[in-house]
Amino acid sequence: MKTIVTDSAEEAARFIREGGTVAFPTETVYGLGADVFDEFAISKIFAAKQRPADNPLIAHVGDVSQISQLADSIPERAKAFIDRFFPGPLTLVVPKSVDVPPIATAGLDTIGVRMPAGEITRAFLKASGTPVVAPSANVSGRPSPTDWESVLEDLEGKIDCILKGEPSRVGLESTVVDCTDEIPVVLRPGAVSIEQLREIVPETLPFAESDGTPARSPGMRHKHYSPKARVILIDPADVRSASAGRNDLAFIGLGQPPENASVTMIVDSTEEYARELFGFFRLCDRKGIGTILCETVPEEGIGTALMDRLRRAAE
Ligand code: TXA
Ligand code: MG
Repeated sequence: MKTIVTDSAEEAARFIREGGTVAFPTETVYGLGADVFDEFAISKIFAAKQRPADNPLIAHVGDVSQISQLADSIPERAKAFIDRFFPGPLTLVVPKSVDVPPIATAGLDTIGVRMPAGEITRAFLKASGTPVVAPSANVSGRPSPTDWESVLEDLEGKIDCILKGEPSRVGLESTVVDCTDEIPVVLRPGAVSIEQLREIVPETLPFAESDGTPARSPGMRHKHYSPKARVILIDPADVRSASAGRNDLAFIGLGQPPENASVTMIVDSTEEYARELFGFFRLCDRKGIGTILCETVPEEGIGTALMDRLRRAAE
């Protein structure tokens, strides 16, 4: 299969309308999309990514009015989140419409719905004329792609089209909030923080404090976000001692890198750290780095999501 790379939202959308697979930019990470109502097109996403069939996909809309095609009902608390955070880096899990094929949601009776921001993204979704289901556009288990070149690296020849856009502004996948129960539960932390969610619905809980079983968020069972290199999390105060005597070393963080690190990235803020992390993992893999030292950050705001991804990469 030849993969067409284009900067035309209209050309990319044509592939969706004709039952193809298209990688497209969003503010979080790049997604790999297909028409939510086309089972065969969706099966091509799972094949290209080598994604386990028990991991449900997120449906992306270009307009709030499309949500009614996906959801059986929209709970009041979900409506409140939509009013405040759409378009943005937030996915809401709501009861699924019977019209959505089971392959899209891994057989669940719920569906994750998100309206991404960004001009080219919105133009692409509108021109597609249908909600677009999309996981992150990486081969399963690799770091999510935050620029179109990373999509090409993983999926060239396996998908129909890549819509070229800017590198992703956030750099970590969306916050996923289960809105099917009385009390919303954050299944995956992201750029919309629990502090912000609680300004709208004060009862909102992090997954660890809910009575939820891991089955509630199937994707979180799978290994994620890992570079080939070993990832070690390190308190800023301990960087020097941890690095002594190591070769093939890389460093990312807010402070000073150890002298023997051959690939380094110093960031100015937690936001920049989040934006750069997955691209840095890929760079380290290309350079054959053996160990990546990642500085830890305080768990507040996007720091919660960043620490979640760092811990998964270090597992
Ligand atoms: O930022 C993002 O969310 C990106 C962009 C492309 O939108 N997408 C993304 O998709 O990260 P993916 O497939 O890599 O991760 C989707 C996550 C998984 O953890 C999955 O289990 C969860 O969302 N999810 C999707 N639908 C769900 C549902 N109905 N119930 C519970 N969890 C769900
Ligand atoms: Mg993913």
